[in-house]
Amino acid sequence: MDKVFIKNAGQLVTCAGSRDLMIIEDGAVIIENGVISRVGKTRELITEVDENQCDVIDAGGKPVLPGFVDCHTHFCFAGYRDDEFRWRLQGMSYTEIMRRGGGIVRTVQSTRAASFEELKSLSSRRLNSMLSFGVTTVEGKTGYGLDLETELKQVKVMKELSREHPVDIAITFLGAHAVPSEYKDNPDEYINYLIQEVMPVIVEEGGVDFCDVFCDQGVFTVEQTRQILLRGQELGLKSRLHADEIAQVGGAELAAEMGAVSADHLLKVSDKGIEMMAEAGVVAVLLPITAFSLKEPYAPARKMLGAGLRVALATDLNPGSCYSESIPLLFALSTLYMGLTIEEAVLGLTINAAAAIARDREIGSIEVGKLGDVIILDAPSYTHLAYHIGVNIVEKVIKKGQIVFDKGEE
Ligand code: NIG
Ligand code: FE
Repeated sequence: MDKVFIKNAGQLVTCAGSRDLMIIEDGAVIIENGVISRVGKTRELITEVDENQCDVIDAGGKPVLPGFVDCHTHFCFAGYRDDEFRWRLQGMSYTEIMRRGGGIVRTVQSTRAASFEELKSLSSRRLNSMLSFGVTTVEGKTGYGLDLETELKQVKVMKELSREHPVDIAITFLGAHAVPSEYKDNPDEYINYLIQEVMPVIVEEGGVDFCDVFCDQGVFTVEQTRQILLRGQELGLKSRLHADEIAQVGGAELAAEMGAVSADHLLKVSDKGIEMMAEAGVVAVLLPITAFSLKEPYAPARKMLGAGLRVALATDLNPGSCYSESIPLLFALSTLYMGLTIEEAVLGLTINAAAAIARDREIGSIEVGKLGDVIILDAPSYTHLAYHIGVNIVEKVIKKGQIVFDKGEE
C-alpha cells in the first residue's frame, strides 16, 4: 500500500536538529508514497489514519531512528589485500606498503581485471551487509580504475545498483586516488589526462555528484588537488577531500578555500584548518575505524565540535586501510576512543552524514518531506547502539516506507 503507519516507537529519535536528537516518546510516523507526511505521538496520529487502509508497522515500544547514512566508502572494488594487512600486523606502515608497490594500485589491477558483472556482484553483496547494519544511503567512490574505462565501469556499476538495490548511492569521482603505474614518473601528465579526457566523459555519463582527491603526503599536493577540484567545479561536481590523513599538508585549509562540502579523515588537521572549515561551513567526516585499523591517533573530534564544526561519521570501507562496514564498531570507537557522546555519534551517522553528501534536505532525519527511511532497533533504548559493544541491534530497515531488511525473517 502507498500509505505506511509506524506506531508505538518507544523513542522516536528524529535527529531533526544537527546538535539535538529531538526525541518523541511513544512516537509515530506516517509515510505516503515513500515520503514522510506526518510525525508525532502515536495517540495523536492513530486518530488520523484508518489502519485498514494502510500498512501498519508496530514498533512495539522499541526505538525508531532515521536510516544511517554512510557518507564515505570505497565499496566498489575487486580483489583483496589481506597479505598487506598481515604486513601491517608485523609493523609495516601503510605508507611503506604504498612505497613498495602495494596499496591502492594493487586494487586498481584487480578492479581493472574484473568484469562489469563481477564488480557489480561483489559491490551488491557489500551493500546487503551495510543494509543489515541499518544503512539506507551510502556514498561510493571510484578511484580503483585510474583510467577512463575502469572509472566509468565503477560509475556504471554504482548507478545500476542505486536503481536496483534498496540502498541509495551518492557517487563520487575519485580519479585522483593515486597515480597509476603507467604515469608513475609523471603525475602532472596523469592530472592532465584526468582533467582533459576522463572528467568530461564521467560527467557526461551522469549520476556523479562529487569530485574527491586524496590530498596528502606522497599522493597529490595541495596545488594538484586544487587544479582537479576546480575542473570538477567547472563541470558541476561539488568538492570533497581526503584531507590531512597521513600528514598535515593543508588539506583542511584547501577544503575551506574551495567551499568543499566535506573534508574527510583529518587525523593530522591543523588548528587553523579547523577554524577555516568552521567559517566556510565544511562538514568534517571522521573515519575512526581507519585510524583504529592503521593504529593511528584519532581525529581531534572534541576540538572540532568545540570550534562549531559539523561532525559526520563514516566507515571508509575499502580493501586497504579499513576493510570494515561495521556500524557497531563505528559507534564503539567514536564514543569510547574518539570522545563523542552517544548523541553526537547518532547525529554523525544521520543528519550530519546527510549534510556531508549534500542530501540533508531529503534524508538524515525523521521529518515531514523527507524520505521514509527508518530503522527499528531491538533494544530498550538508542543508547544501546554504543553500549551494546560491537553487536548489530538493528531489527528492521525500512526504505521509502518498505521493509527491506527484517532480522526476524533472515
Ligand atoms: O580512505 N585514503 C585514501 N583512500 C582510502 C584507502 C584506500 C585503499 O587503501 O585502498 C582511505 O583510507
Ligand atoms: Fe577514503
